[in-house]
Amino acid sequence: MRVIVCENYEEVSKEAAKIVASQLILKPDSVLGLATGSTPVGMYNILAEKNKAGEIDFKDVKSFNLDEYYPMAADHDQSYRYFMNENLFNHINIDIENTHVLNGLAENPEKECDDFEKMIDAAGGIDLQVLGIGQNGHIGFNEPDDFLYANTHLTDLTDNTIQANSRFFDKIEDVPTKALTMGIASILKSKRIIILASGENKRDAVTELIEGEISTKNPATMLKVHKDVIVICDKAAYSK
Ligand code: GLP
Repeated sequence: MRVIVCENYEEVSKEAAKIVASQLILKPDSVLGLATGSTPVGMYNILAEKNKAGEIDFKDVKSFNLDEYYPMAADHDQSYRYFMNENLFNHINIDIENTHVLNGLAENPEKECDDFEKMIDAAGGIDLQVLGIGQNGHIGFNEPDDFLYANTHLTDLTDNTIQANSRFFDKIEDVPTKALTMGIASILKSKRIIILASGENKRDAVTELIEGEISTKNPATMLKVHKDVIVICDKAAYSK
């Protein structure tokens, strides 16, 4: 695992955008795994600027998002589909048909998850997966537990995550208690992974990720078995 420690959030965003841009330059038809949350927003803004400036092209890119709340309508302003459209897809030349976000209203969530896995495989697998990290070490919505799921699945959210994500909703009761998420193996199958973290509230999770033992109680530590992971964090998230 390589660790890049940046001065601040802006630098984290720039470093991450540099890696994504290089990926697209080397392989214009890359398959990207994308994340939501506040952390990648700066990176998405820079990627949109680079696209506008003609430095990178999303014409042949395919994307798969890590997760979606369940139940959640795609046009709800807190859905991850809405988030991706607002923060990235509407600002770049990606074909929206090539962007895949799990359907938060799927009647048969199990089938939705199986189909999603198959679509990733059919696309040739994820070349570069972008991750954030939850305060409790979750990646996607793989929450700390006694065991973790390999494949894309429906999961319960922990109180910690519901609390952390309630800042985006009017009241905590509005936060969905379940989500569809790629599993740990779905994430580890990606050829390269970058994981972004910024701010003091991520310090414990990042310390565990870098120094801790592999444990299902901190799902991000599972990344230690992957041969090409880059942690990009700022000093506030790293200082231990
Ligand atoms: C959310 C998402 C994760 C994200 C994490 C951190 O719940 N499911 O994919 O990485 O929480 O979010 P933030 O970047 O806003 O701290």
